[in-house]
Amino acid sequence: MKAIVLSAVGGTDQLVHQDFADPAPGPGQVRVELEAAALNHRDVWIRRGLYAGITLPVILGSDGVGTVDQVGEGVDVSLIGQRFWINPSLAWGDRKDVPDYKTWRILGLPDQGTYAEKIVVDSAQLEPCPSDWKAEDAAALPLAGLTAYRALFTRGQFEAGQSVFITGIGGGVSQMALQMAVAAGGKVYVSSSSDTKLENARRAGALGGVNYRQADWVKTAREMIGGEGPDIAIDSAGGKTIDDLIDLVRPGGSVVNYGQTTGTCPNLEVRRLFWKQVNLLGTTMGNRSEFRAMLKFYIERGLRPQVYRVFDLSEAGSAHDLMESGEQAGKIVLKIKG
Ligand SMILES: NC(=O)c1ccc[n+]([C@@H]2O[C@H](COP(=O)([O-])OP(=O)(O)OC[C@H]3O[C@@H](n4cnc5c(N)ncnc54)[C@H](OP(=O)(O)O)[C@@H]3O)[C@@H](O)[C@H]2O)c1
Repeated sequence: MKAIVLSAVGGTDQLVHQDFADPAPGPGQVRVELEAAALNHRDVWIRRGLYAGITLPVILGSDGVGTVDQVGEGVDVSLIGQRFWINPSLAWGDRKDVPDYKTWRILGLPDQGTYAEKIVVDSAQLEPCPSDWKAEDAAALPLAGLTAYRALFTRGQFEAGQSVFITGIGGGVSQMALQMAVAAGGKVYVSSSSDTKLENARRAGALGGVNYRQADWVKTAREMIGGEGPDIAIDSAGGKTIDDLIDLVRPGGSVVNYGQTTGTCPNLEVRRLFWKQVNLLGTTMGNRSEFRAMLKFYIERGLRPQVYRVFDLSEAGSAHDLMESGEQAGKIVLKIKG
């Protein structure tokens, strides 16, 4: 098969479109012929060598949709020919609150990922994908949708009518948090480095937005949202933004973080955290029941993820360049078949 293989960390020229041995399913596993994959920022961190536990060579990619073409021992042969999403959260374990850190992995390191024509996964990772979903829309959903769903509903305990502030709305996960919060009856506000992305977010149902490049964006956001501040903030920027969000949310509100794009937070105002009784919550991806609930949410409400651009699999390097430029608003997809 053809795959994008990363044999050394570095620039986008390290993403080489080459032949790779066809994987064969073992007991309990299936082989999926992929139609499309999607990028996550994790792929860029790994490619640049900025991720823990890198083993090479590796095929990156956590998101994929496709059709089962082979099954291993003990797997129902009727799966062959059926179309599925792949849950990228591998071996989460039995607890709902946290994964089993001894077994849990994210598809696409160390396991071979979805930037390939074929992939082998455990059959328990499959969830049926309706035929009316275009491959690029379907591929865009898994990792970002799961992360946004858990951040908003499980960790954030969001309820209809609450206000939610989502940082960096150009991001893949942020876009899905916006879609889900709007669809579930939230009053949603966003931040971005780009006024165009803020305008797009308003068209997608946000009530307002602020540009986080402006020094006084917290003040602007507070005035825009009114009252005591938002009930929930959802963030992957990390860094100083964490401190800013503790400042912004209402007393007793929640800051839910799933990333540290801008690094660690050097001067956290701890007094504000306890005095305001703020819930500072971490979240990462999610479990199988959350993955299923997220898919159901999208399917039942007729939602589709926002896809910013589609590249051919062989153009994975250009797709990474685009993600690193930060120009995108929504998901970047690799078309593999058709
Ligand atoms: N823990 C998990 O399970 C999990 C899952 C997915 C992602 N992540 C992490 O979350 C982050 C985003 O991932 P992604 O795939 O959604 O990436 P992405 O699509 O590349 O989005 C990144 C976005 O971050 C925003 N951003 C950058 N600097 C910011 C700042 N100072 N303040 C606010 N926003 C800022 C930008 O928004 P604008 O373009 O609007 O300025 C940018 O578009 C990455 O660090 C990733 O590793 C973690």
